[in-house]
Amino acid sequence: MKTSVLLFAGLLSLCRAHGKDNYVASLSPNARQMFTESMTWMDDYYDSSAGYLYNFDAASALRHETRSSAWYAFGLLARNSGHDVAEAEKIITNIIAGQYKDPAEQWYGDYQQEPEEPYVGSPNYKAKIYGSFDPNWRGFVGTTFIMAVEEFRHLLSNGTTKLILESLRNATAGDSYRVGGVDGDNLYASYSNPSIMRAFVSGWTGRRLGDKNMTVAGEAYAQEIIDLFNLHSTLSEFNSGTYTGVSLFGLTLWSKYLPADSVMTQYGPKMLGATWNAVAQLWHPDMKNMAGPWDRAYGYDMNKYVSLMALWFWTLLGKEASSLIAKPHVMSHMADYAWAPLFAVLADFHSSLLPKGTVKKLSSFKGERTFSAKAFYPPYDLAARNISTWLSEKLTIGAESFDETVVGGGSTSQTSFNPAVVQWFNGKEIAFISLYPTETALSAVVAPGRLNLTYPKGNASSIFTLVVSTNKQKPTVTEWEDVQGVDVTVSGNVNASYSLSFAGRYGGAASVIRDFEFWNFTYSMPDGFQGTPNLCLEFTLV
Ligand SMILES: *[C@@H]1O[C@H](CO)[C@@H](O)[C@H](O)[C@H]1NC(C)=O
Ligand SMILES: *[C@@H]1O[C@H](CO)[C@@H](O)[C@H](O)[C@H]1NC(C)=O
Ligand SMILES: *[C@@H]1O[C@H](CO)[C@@H](O)[C@H](O)[C@H]1NC(C)=O
Ligand SMILES: *[C@@H]1O[C@H](CO)[C@@H](O)[C@H](O)[C@H]1NC(C)=O
Ligand SMILES: *[C@@H]1O[C@H](CO)[C@@H](O)[C@H](O)[C@H]1NC(C)=O
Ligand SMILES: *[C@@H]1O[C@H](CO)[C@@H](O)[C@H](O)[C@H]1NC(C)=O
Ligand SMILES: *[C@@H]1O[C@H](CO)[C@@H](O)[C@H](O)[C@H]1NC(C)=O
Ligand SMILES: *[C@@H]1O[C@H](CO)[C@@H](O)[C@H](O)[C@H]1NC(C)=O
Repeated sequence: MKTSVLLFAGLLSLCRAHGKDNYVASLSPNARQMFTESMTWMDDYYDSSAGYLYNFDAASALRHETRSSAWYAFGLLARNSGHDVAEAEKIITNIIAGQYKDPAEQWYGDYQQEPEEPYVGSPNYKAKIYGSFDPNWRGFVGTTFIMAVEEFRHLLSNGTTKLILESLRNATAGDSYRVGGVDGDNLYASYSNPSIMRAFVSGWTGRRLGDKNMTVAGEAYAQEIIDLFNLHSTLSEFNSGTYTGVSLFGLTLWSKYLPADSVMTQYGPKMLGATWNAVAQLWHPDMKNMAGPWDRAYGYDMNKYVSLMALWFWTLLGKEASSLIAKPHVMSHMADYAWAPLFAVLADFHSSLLPKGTVKKLSSFKGERTFSAKAFYPPYDLAARNISTWLSEKLTIGAESFDETVVGGGSTSQTSFNPAVVQWFNGKEIAFISLYPTETALSAVVAPGRLNLTYPKGNASSIFTLVVSTNKQKPTVTEWEDVQGVDVTVSGNVNASYSLSFAGRYGGAASVIRDFEFWNFTYSMPDGFQGTPNLCLEFTLV
């Protein structure tokens, strides 16, 4: 008996010493491929003398970057080959040295964005939320540290583990300063992706440190998120190639790393399942896009930018069937690719939570359909948003009606809120039309081949700006007829003569949006207009 226990312990430590062969090899093939390819790419960016990754942005004069370094350090622990663990500990120690340590400051417990930056709040480096400091990085780095402790505690020295726990204590305390609407912060429970991470980090860290207060705070915050979710079985921040991916990451952590007495353990799988049910309806496997509307998007075509959902699709469907190209780091928004090692490690557990049949639904287009849902994002939403999306073989139309206190959705961003989106296959690539938000309210009616837009609070000064894709067949667009692959018929009470301009990398009237060049078709109201502005677009594939 004793010998066999010893033998077992011996084998275990042997396995651990050779963790590189075992841990990564134990991942299922898609996850393993994603892990290996992303790490190989990041290896080129690693500056061992600094103990940080260089910033992926080629235009950063060899500065470094904190968040991707944390993700890479996690990957090094999983790989555990050669000096990997020593490098990981070096990176982690550096990142924690650069964590803000003064409890009197709003950015307490947050992490520097780059080791080169001046001290936040110093005379020539004013504190600016989402500028000189990004409060969400507590969550991004904190969740990574927790995964490192959960998965690779046996590789970390006691000193590093202790440091990580102290770092998490401070990150949690600093995160508790965040109150939506106070000090310029926007962390409401409805801001789904960081709020899910915040509840998790607080709940986990509190338990680990035996700090009941922290545990209770995490649970209470999670309950607020759950209550909001339960209104319509949707996340407040709904349908985003990037942020649905973060929320699914956070919900996986809720489901995996907390004990049974946590509300997060109880609701995480249910929320994750409902979110995937919506994704399965909206994902178009042939067009390789999640149809609109998008609450927050970092591009107009998922085939051209790296989205976090694409990483989940890679783990479930394989790389070819995801929206990534062979070399994802060439795509726009590629810095998110650095998250891949964490997604890879979670992949098998994550897929065990999916509702039955999800992968099948995601794998091939299951025919024309209409999806509808509601979502609610207080305090910005004055009423639930009503989402309606029609999908057909080569054309999708999705839009949401909203009534809000701001322009640009819950993130008050005109360039990422896309409340009405049309996508089609133009023979060569995915083409798109997206309504650029300029109003606080929209009433949108979607029908097969039709998008009918009304501004209930609009007036004679209202405009309808349509961001329209460029196309290879006809690079110089002068009228609707030049837009390829679709006939567009316009009606409504707008002045039928529209303005047309170009937003380009090298010229035109405006700058690109999230790297995408586009044509700006803008409709105004006729002189002396009275009434409710309306624009109706009808589409026929040609
Ligand atoms: C590290 O911590 C563990 C458990 O907390 C303890 O058993 C072990 O002796 C420690 N190792 C060293 C080298 O201090
Ligand atoms: C945590 O915060 C305290 C102040 O509350 C500070 O003294 C300490 O250095 C911080 N620890 C780390 C690891 O940053
Ligand atoms: C417990 O949490 C509350 C609310 O976040 C806070 O006001 C209080 O100071 C905390 N107490 C301790 C002992 O940390
Ligand atoms: C969404 O529909 C509900 C009725 O189901 C309605 O009460 C609400 O006002 C609508 N929201 C918007 C923004 O139009
Ligand atoms: C579009 O909506 C407007 C305003 O509700 C309505 O008057 C018009 O008939 C609708 N157009 C179509 C084609 O349904
Ligand atoms: C239309 O509404 C906007 C915003 O409320 C206002 O600034 C503008 O003056 C109005 N224009 C007209 C012509 O009433
Ligand atoms: C689109 O064009 C209109 C009319 O020229 C202009 O007012 C608006 O700022 C442009 N929008 C964008 C996003 O470039
Ligand atoms: C419609 O717009 C055109 C071009 O700006 C303008 O010449 C014309 O007067 C407008 N018509 C009305 C009815 O406002």
